[in-house]
Amino acid sequence: MITTLAQWLAGQTVDPKLASVVASMAAASAEIAGILRLAPIAGQTGLAGHTNVQGEAQKALDVISNDIVLNHIGQNSEISILVSEELDEAVHLENQGQYMVATDPLDGSSNLDVNVTVGTIFSVLDASKGLLQPGTAQLAAGYAAYGPATSLVITFGAGVAVFTLDGAGQFVLTLDKVAVAAASSEYAINTARERFWDEATRSYVAENVAGETGPAGKRYNMRWVGSMVADIHRILMRGGIFMYPLDSETVSKGGRLRLLYEANPMAMIVEAAGGASTTGSEKILELVPTGIHQRVPVILGSAEEVARVEGWYAKA
Ligand code: AHG
Ligand code: MN
Ligand code: MN
Repeated sequence: MITTLAQWLAGQTVDPKLASVVASMAAASAEIAGILRLAPIAGQTGLAGHTNVQGEAQKALDVISNDIVLNHIGQNSEISILVSEELDEAVHLENQGQYMVATDPLDGSSNLDVNVTVGTIFSVLDASKGLLQPGTAQLAAGYAAYGPATSLVITFGAGVAVFTLDGAGQFVLTLDKVAVAAASSEYAINTARERFWDEATRSYVAENVAGETGPAGKRYNMRWVGSMVADIHRILMRGGIFMYPLDSETVSKGGRLRLLYEANPMAMIVEAAGGASTTGSEKILELVPTGIHQRVPVILGSAEEVARVEGWYAKA
């Protein structure tokens, strides 16, 4: 017996209106998956020709994905506010909907031209509480990973479920109650940035590189896809730690990844699966945002590894 996303959502003890918001993001993700699969044939790869508010070159598919999300969200009267990586300002929709969605419609878009996994990340909040709410106020979070299979990962705070898109465009439950392994010997960080790293990051990674000959006492492996969604999905499935710490180059911006639609939803998912998340010295989910596109340091994954990094930050 298969369980479809609609059946699973109907069985959750959450407001059906909130479930409908997640269903809208799932529908947008299914449509984006279809577009991505055929984009090279349709000539939709490459740059869109403009930059977003954060000064990053938008890919054609960033813009297309954003339009798809906007279209699905616009059709759901329960949603009154949309915050997107690709839109300078928050969009206030013409309805009284109770919910706000913050999204990165296409994460990891630099990987598109090389046919490597990208994703859609989203966070759902109470629209009446304003744009700048801490991650602890999130009501739901999820992401779609467009890989060999399209996976949709959802949490309402307690437990994390994984769905897979079938050939008919329907999401089917393939994993329930996911748990992030507490221990791991795999880490993800862009090591080309080593010269910018702080002492804590340097010390933690040095211990991992030393492997069984160092204080960690075990051998580590490094994996970095360069798509947060793909890296976090691997960690959800088999443990590990993901790090985009504050470094001397990103310090003026506050970090690399965005709080509202990258760090917060991923931290909620990882924590709901028993993992941990931090900026190094503060809890990501407790940060009070100062802007919708605010950037923050992100360290999350297996609890024991995150605790080791926090240990180094506490010493610094
Ligand atoms: P986006 O494509 O939305 O700008 O995000 C890309 C992010 C994230 O997915 C990834 O973890 C990180 O940027 C990769 O950074 P590097 O290019 O420094 O490896
Ligand atoms: Mn992104
Ligand atoms: Mn993006």
